[in-house]
Amino acid sequence: MSSSELSYTVIPGGRLAGRLRVPGDKSISHRSIMFGALAEGLTTVEGFLTGEDCLCTMKAFQAMGVRIERPAETSLRIHGVGLHGLQSPREPLDLGNSGTSMRLMAGLLSGQHFTSNLVGDASLSRRPMKRIIAPLEQMGARIESNEGKAPLNILPHRNLKAISYHSPVASAQIKSGILLAGLYAQGKTEVFEPEASRDHTERMLRAFGVKVEARAGYAALEGGQSLKATAIQVPADISSAAFFMVGAAIVPGSEIVLSDVGVNPTRTGIIDVLRLMGADIRLENERRFGDEPVADIRVRGGGLRGVRIGKELVAASIDEFPIIFIAAAFAQGETVVEGAEELRVKESDRIQSMCDGLRALGVAAQALPDGMRVMGGRMRGGTVDSRGDHRIAMSFAIAALRAEQPIRILDCANVNTSFPGFAALARAAGLGIREA
Ligand code: S3P
Repeated sequence: MSSSELSYTVIPGGRLAGRLRVPGDKSISHRSIMFGALAEGLTTVEGFLTGEDCLCTMKAFQAMGVRIERPAETSLRIHGVGLHGLQSPREPLDLGNSGTSMRLMAGLLSGQHFTSNLVGDASLSRRPMKRIIAPLEQMGARIESNEGKAPLNILPHRNLKAISYHSPVASAQIKSGILLAGLYAQGKTEVFEPEASRDHTERMLRAFGVKVEARAGYAALEGGQSLKATAIQVPADISSAAFFMVGAAIVPGSEIVLSDVGVNPTRTGIIDVLRLMGADIRLENERRFGDEPVADIRVRGGGLRGVRIGKELVAASIDEFPIIFIAAAFAQGETVVEGAEELRVKESDRIQSMCDGLRALGVAAQALPDGMRVMGGRMRGGTVDSRGDHRIAMSFAIAALRAEQPIRILDCANVNTSFPGFAALARAAGLGIREA
């Protein structure tokens, strides 16, 4: 079925209940493949996300000669080839919808002795790659692109040089791409960011035995360090859990527990935002999976209030704004989000997609250059176009819990990029969702 053919119809009413385990973290799953492939020895991964984005990363490394076994649905055995063991792929590496794959791999492929060609789907081919090409070129990489967009042609190189890079945007994809190129460079590669972006790369490289200097807004490593295989347990993805957190928070009488969720402080902005809005959220059973903090998250439904969300909360909740706008639509009063212009260059322009969808359902929303103004109140039913953006599709599905009539959401197949089994899990939790 092509992306535009799958739609959801969601009947209003109902409330969420029970204990749920959403699939593995997307950022950590991508990195487990990449670092496992570059390590020496056998890396095992449990709880791997089998979404299409991570499968693209897996296939790309298999195409470069890395043996990866899948003894169970979400378990992997990665036979690492070492920093210099990748082989030239015979065909272009198709990275589908995945910006993380393209930007991180652009970095690590910049240091290889072969040419690689990175391609993606229509959405990925529209997204800005200059932000990663420019610093890599400063390191000496040679990258051909379609005016700063995919496809990327990365030419062979052996002597990258370390740089000290001040990134204009807080982006873990840029930071990580540079650090991975830095493994192949001579000297110390440093990245400074205006705000702290997610730090999974720094944590996981350390688990692989790499010395990394890291603090909020800064990361650095010396080139030439080898990675030693390790065992990785992937937490449940807080960005997937967020849909159910908001679903429970907006419906009085709901109560859910989300198990094993990654609560790395660079990712927990959604918890801060929902608490600001007055939601009842508790972390239970706090523990660690390796270097990553994990907890069970209990959410009870109640009334939310509108809030102001500024730049300081954006990086730690960057993927959660579509569902935050839904929370805002049911909150009392106005919510204003500012400093979130990055939303315009995600899988779709998430400010425009969400604003158009909310207005189609009768919600008073106004797009701002760097955010949105949403007036909480009632939501009618109707049809919205997800524009092939997984998080837009799931956000409007959850919104239907409190809508007055059914909501039909078009173009939903890309939900599989990050959350395979979303509709079935949502149905089990109490959402009246049908796929067609
Ligand atoms: C990701 C970083 C974020 C996020 C994306 C995953 C990562 O992108 O939106 O879904 O795994 O590094 P940016 O770094 O561009 O903000």
